[in-house]
Amino acid sequence: MKGLVLAGGAGTRLRPLTYTGAKQLVPVANRPVLFYVVDNLVDAGITEIAMIISPETGAEVRSTVGDGARWGAKITYVLQDKPAGLAHAVLTAKAELAGEDFCMFLGDNLIGTKIKAAVETFARAPEFGASVMLKEVPNPSSFGVAEVDADGNVTRLVEKPREPKSNLALVGIYLFRPSIFDAIAAIRPSPRGELEITDAIAKLIELGHKVRFERVTSWWLDTGKKDDLLLANDTVLDDWAVSGVRGEVDGDSKLSGRVFVDEGASVVRSSIRGPVVIGKGARIVDSRVGPFTSLGDGVHVERSSVEHSVVMEGSRVEDIPRLEDSLIGRRVHVSPGAAHLGTLSLLVGDDCKVELGRKG
Ligand code: TTP
Repeated sequence: MKGLVLAGGAGTRLRPLTYTGAKQLVPVANRPVLFYVVDNLVDAGITEIAMIISPETGAEVRSTVGDGARWGAKITYVLQDKPAGLAHAVLTAKAELAGEDFCMFLGDNLIGTKIKAAVETFARAPEFGASVMLKEVPNPSSFGVAEVDADGNVTRLVEKPREPKSNLALVGIYLFRPSIFDAIAAIRPSPRGELEITDAIAKLIELGHKVRFERVTSWWLDTGKKDDLLLANDTVLDDWAVSGVRGEVDGDSKLSGRVFVDEGASVVRSSIRGPVVIGKGARIVDSRVGPFTSLGDGVHVERSSVEHSVVMEGSRVEDIPRLEDSLIGRRVHVSPGAAHLGTLSLLVGDDCKVELGRKG
């Protein structure tokens, strides 16, 4: 079985961050979301992976992810010239998938479980034309929703239904056979102008194929929005963070809970409450950090308190008494100007300078 990772798209919901970078590379616990996707595919024995990229962010995705050697995998890149829908992305990769079964994984989806068992079950069940993963959600109207029968078949799929008949949302992981291309050939763009994967799967059922499903009981997060991204960061830190000090922590600092301090990082007169990861060469001085916070490589936090936030590489936070629930891009400088500040919650794109408060 091959892998197909979708790392194109527009990323409008994470603007302004996605003006300068791919949303699939936003770090969760200091690793790009895409790395967790590749981990999961490789764990399932899928090592031949085609990755869909966009003209805007393709080069960055390519240079960050590489040829797959670090996973013992082979990753090839397929350019999708415009974000014309998930089914359009599948069509774009047709030559790469070369008539094989494949697992399609959305590059901004994170899931707390391994897909290996579902992949193996599908490989042993040739009577099914596709397999989808479904998760119970409280707000199905925001998702692609599946209706299922008691025998484990998907009977109907609706994209963002106004009056949902089921609370089972489609998770961004799908198992297909080459028959999906016949279904895609038979659908037309939706009212929003995209070739929808839900329409393609519905067409597959109409063409007489059975579609099975797996229920996802672990967490599932779509990292394409700020709050979901912060939640993903919490969840991954909570589930997978390890403690370790490779950098330096002075005697006046206190670490509690799971805190990882990477090489060349220093913690000076500061209190770090895990789970927290601190990237290479970062510097924390006279500050409080955590819980649930990821500071990227080279981040400086001085005389500040940062909680429940992701601060990306090369950024500086200075003299901010309380920064919470924030997603700060790369090489950002946040400093307070003259005013006395309360709690701040920010979403800041790359290369910004944020000076807060009234001028004195
Ligand atoms: P979405 O989050 O559904 O779409 P988007 O990236 O355009 O984001 P937004 O709604 O914020 O504008 O996409 C899911 C994943 O699939 C994501 O990793 C991007 C990728 N994708 C493609 O590779 N090609 C496409 O044509 C589309 C629509 C998405």
